[in-house]
Amino acid sequence: DELEIGGHQHFMHKEMHEQPETVRRMLTGRLDDRFATARLDGLELEPRDLRAFRRVKILGCGSAYYVGEMGASMIEDLARIPADAEAASEFRYRNPIIEPDTLYVAVSQSGETADTLFAVREIQRKGGRVVGLVNVVGSSIARECDGGVYLHAGPEVAVASTKALTHMAVGFAMLAVALGRVRDLSYADGTRIINALKEIPDQISAILDQEGAIADVAKKIAAAPSLFFIGRVRGFPVAREGAQKFKEISYRHAEAYQASELKHGPLALISEELPTVAIVPRDDLLQRNIGAAHEIAARRGPLLVVTHEDVDLGDLEGERIVVPKSEDELDAILLTIPLQLLAYHAALTLGHDIDRPRNLAKSVTVE
Ligand code: G6P
Repeated sequence: DELEIGGHQHFMHKEMHEQPETVRRMLTGRLDDRFATARLDGLELEPRDLRAFRRVKILGCGSAYYVGEMGASMIEDLARIPADAEAASEFRYRNPIIEPDTLYVAVSQSGETADTLFAVREIQRKGGRVVGLVNVVGSSIARECDGGVYLHAGPEVAVASTKALTHMAVGFAMLAVALGRVRDLSYADGTRIINALKEIPDQISAILDQEGAIADVAKKIAAAPSLFFIGRVRGFPVAREGAQKFKEISYRHAEAYQASELKHGPLALISEELPTVAIVPRDDLLQRNIGAAHEIAARRGPLLVVTHEDVDLGDLEGERIVVPKSEDELDAILLTIPLQLLAYHAALTLGHDIDRPRNLAKSVTVE
C-alpha cells in the first residue's frame, strides 16, 4: 500500500525508492513510437492548437518552480519556443501581462498551493489558457485548469518532495517533445527523446543503488555550516533544487548560483570551510564547468562533483558521484536524484525529523 511506510525508516526514503516503478507507470501508454511523440490527451489540445502557441510560461512554488525551470529549458531545447518559469507567488502580485498566444502551465504536487491556484485564476480572468501538471487527482488546480497532465506519482507523504518532482520533470519532457513534434523537432530527434525517456526508470534504479556511497559523502558534508550548489544553464535548476532540498531537511545554509557567476562575486567566499556541490554534465558546457570546479579547488574549497561516466576531471581532488547519462536535454531529470539522497543522508546524520521538517508544511493552502 502506498500509504504504508513498509521497511523504510522514513516516507522520504520510501518515496525516493519508489521512483523507478512510479515513473515506469507514468510513461505507460504515453509514449508514441509511431509518431515519435508523447500522447498527452488530457491537455485537450489538438496539434493545430499546440502549434499556435508562441511562448510557454510555467508557474509553481518551491521545488515545483525549480522543476519548472528545468521544464522551460527542455521546451526551449526541443520545441525552440521561448519558455520560462516564475514563482507563482511572485507572478500573482505583479499584475502580469497575459498573452493569448502563450501556453501557461501550472505545476503542483498537491494541486492546492494557494499562490499557484491564484495565478491560475488570474490568467483565466485575463483570457489566458492554463494547463496543469498536477499530481493529486481532483485537486483544486487540476479542476480549475483548462486541461492538463496528471503526474501519477501516487501519494507523497514526506514534506520534502522527491518522486513528485521527478514526475514533474518527466512530464515536462513529454510536453516538450509534444510541442517540438508539431514544430521543427524531427522524427529522428523525437525518437531519440522517446527512447531516452524509456531508459529513465532503470537509470534511476542505478542511482539508487549508489545510496551507500552517497550516504558516506553526505556524512562528511553534513558537518559544514554552509554549502554552495553550482550549475550552469540546464544544470542551474538542478543546483537550485539540490540546495532547496538540503536546506529543507538538514537546516544547513545552502545556496545555489550559476557556475558562470562564480568570478563575479561568490568566489570571495570559497575556503576550506565551504564545500561546493558542482553539477558537471557531459554536454557542450563540460569544459567550462570543469574550469569552474578547478577555480574552486585552487582556493581550497572542498568539492563534490556530480557528473557522468567518461568525464575527465584532470587532477581535481574531491568526492564524485557518477550518474547515468541521458540525452543532453533530459540530463536534469537524473542529476537531481543523487541530491535527494545527499540531503536525506545529511539530515539523517544530523538526527532531524526528516518527514516533518520544522516550520514547513507539505502544502501551503493559505496566503
Ligand atoms: C510547499 C512545500 C514544498 C513544495 C511547495 C509547492 O512549500 O514545502 O516542498 O515544493 O509547497 O507545493 P506543490 O504541492 O504546489 O507542488
